[in-house]
Amino acid sequence: MPEARVTLKNTETWGIVSRSFHWLIVVLLIVQGTLGLFHDDLPRGTIRLHVSLGITILTLAIARLAWRLYAGRPAPVAGVSAGQRRVAAIGHFVLYLLLFAVPITGWLMSNYGDHAVHWFGLLELPRLVAPDDAAHEIMEGRHSQLFWALVIVAVLHALAAVHHHLFRRNTTLTRMLRGS
Ligand code: HEM
Ligand code: HEM
Repeated sequence: MPEARVTLKNTETWGIVSRSFHWLIVVLLIVQGTLGLFHDDLPRGTIRLHVSLGITILTLAIARLAWRLYAGRPAPVAGVSAGQRRVAAIGHFVLYLLLFAVPITGWLMSNYGDHAVHWFGLLELPRLVAPDDAAHEIMEGRHSQLFWALVIVAVLHALAAVHHHLFRRNTTLTRMLRGS
């Protein structure tokens, strides 16, 4: 029987660090999207929580990408064609781009609207731009559009993972869930 062990780096499978980052960010994004979409109906102060959580997600995305560049990725699952691997890699690249672009447009939107960005009342982040009403409006639109782009790409990505699991019956999904 193969020996059960916790791997850190992504050698034979996704290690515990990359798996933890992946699923933690998925959960936080669901909370974050909900806070953003329904903030008008939620208690006052929801947007402050949304901003702090958004900065947390941005920080986690940077740490995750740094770890991924250091720890690499596991060998492809047997039976997945080069073409499919290419489509998956493009999808993952776009997901990383959106993980950065959505919070950065939020930060820009806040600064253009003359709001400083605070992190849970502990830190005030640098102002990236001077106040500008027209740019604030544009950035609000970009923040929303990029969020919906993230939703669409993430749903396609999740469907692909489920397809591999149910119909191709390979380890693509399980090695991201439990590492084997
Ligand atoms: C990955 C992180 C983030 C996600 C997924 C996200 C998502 C969203 C969504 C879905 C909305 C509602 C948009 C709409 O009503 O069409 C929203 C609104 C907003 N977001 Fe974010 N956001 C993120 C990060 C941030 C960050 C880091 C900031 C600020 C530093 C921010 C500031 C705002 C503000 C101020 C609004 C309210 C806009 C308004 O209705 O006036 N967001 N966000
Ligand atoms: C907002 C949601 C999501 C985001 C932003 C996201 C992002 C990513 C990224 C960037 C990667 C590439 C890993 C890397 O190279 O570092 C990845 C891998 C993966 N994701 Fe997601 N993901 C999301 C949701 C999901 C869901 C819901 C599922 C399952 C139903 C899933 C299953 C997987 C699997 C199986 C892999 C490994 C693919 C492989 O081995 O090539 N993801 N995800």
